[in-house]
Amino acid sequence: MTKLAIAGATGLVGRKMLETVDRKNISFDELVLFSSARSAGEEIEFQGKTYTVKELTEEAASEHYDYVLMSAGGSTSAHFSPIFEQAGAIVIDNSSQWRMVDDIDLIVPEVNEPVLKRKIIANPNCSTIQSVVPLKVLQEAFGLERVAYTTYQAVSGSGVKGRQDLSEGANGKAPEAYPHPIYNNVLPHIDSFLENGYTKEEQKMIDETRKILKDEDLKVTATCVRVPVQDSHSVHMSVTLESESSVQAIQQLFDNDGRVVLIDNPEQNEYPLAINATGKDEIFVGRIRRDDSLDNTFHVWCTSDNLLKGAALNAVQVLEQVMSLKGVR
Ligand SMILES: NC(=O)c1ccc[n+]([C@@H]2O[C@H](COP(=O)([O-])OP(=O)(O)OC[C@H]3O[C@@H](n4cnc5c(N)ncnc54)[C@H](OP(=O)(O)O)[C@@H]3O)[C@@H](O)[C@H]2O)c1
Repeated sequence: MTKLAIAGATGLVGRKMLETVDRKNISFDELVLFSSARSAGEEIEFQGKTYTVKELTEEAASEHYDYVLMSAGGSTSAHFSPIFEQAGAIVIDNSSQWRMVDDIDLIVPEVNEPVLKRKIIANPNCSTIQSVVPLKVLQEAFGLERVAYTTYQAVSGSGVKGRQDLSEGANGKAPEAYPHPIYNNVLPHIDSFLENGYTKEEQKMIDETRKILKDEDLKVTATCVRVPVQDSHSVHMSVTLESESSVQAIQQLFDNDGRVVLIDNPEQNEYPLAINATGKDEIFVGRIRRDDSLDNTFHVWCTSDNLLKGAALNAVQVLEQVMSLKGVR
């Protein structure tokens, strides 16, 4: 008897989680959907049944669940994930709350596997997830020395409010999710600023990349930018490799590796686009070029759906991974 809960089921990511659980045929006997008091009572149709969303309370989290997909923000996770864990659940959390805690696994199934010292597993930052997969492919083949990221992140990365700021900003409405209008604008600011001048989002990419790729000495830097795009993040990576490579060798490697999809025909104007990544599970890479200003360094352009591979899909893949480790699937 497998009991599954989704906390934050009424959010952008939570709804995608439900779709993905369905699409991936995740088997469960009982499903419970949680939100805050605000949406509790809402009805959600799923696999031919009507589910009434429940308010997430300490009492509800103390019941036994086998698996909990948690997508309700950092402070909610900080409070409720340990309660679910204590009651025996494996919690897969989408927030940044647990990612850099030593005993917590930070997992992208194409790259690493949980060891489950704790029963909370962290889903990495959305831009990090889509980036570490092609980086892992390069790391295995050539070794990595340095990565410099610049991101172009969609507003759905900020949940329902981010989408509203873009759509209503077109009518002149003042922004709520961002400090400046995102409509017709580009914001070099995601999450709050740290003392070193970087934003938390940039620091997350740096720290999480090292943890997932198991290379504490990897040189990583990041600039994270919000762009007026509804869905799907684009990331530019400048990657310095340890051993000699070439544009052709990297293209061939990506083309032959099932973990990424290469689109790199500039003469036909074919390269990865955010608009084409939306609604897809894959991570797209292209525009592979040598950076002649640095030794053995290459540019990689990468797009993926931030709500799918960047959030819900990765979480459900982690769920499949732990279910198969435990022999449930
Ligand atoms: N959007 C992305 O691309 C993305 C990517 C990676 C990670 N994430 C992370 O995923 C999480 C959810 O993001 P989102 O984009 O889906 O946000 P969202 O659309 O704003 O949804 C937030 C969800 O959390 C619920 N919630 C809020 N406070 C709660 C509480 N105290 N108890 C129980 N439920 C609560 C909300 O319920 P109500 O409906 O009742 O408010 C809603 O279901 C966040 O931690 C976010 O950082 C998002």
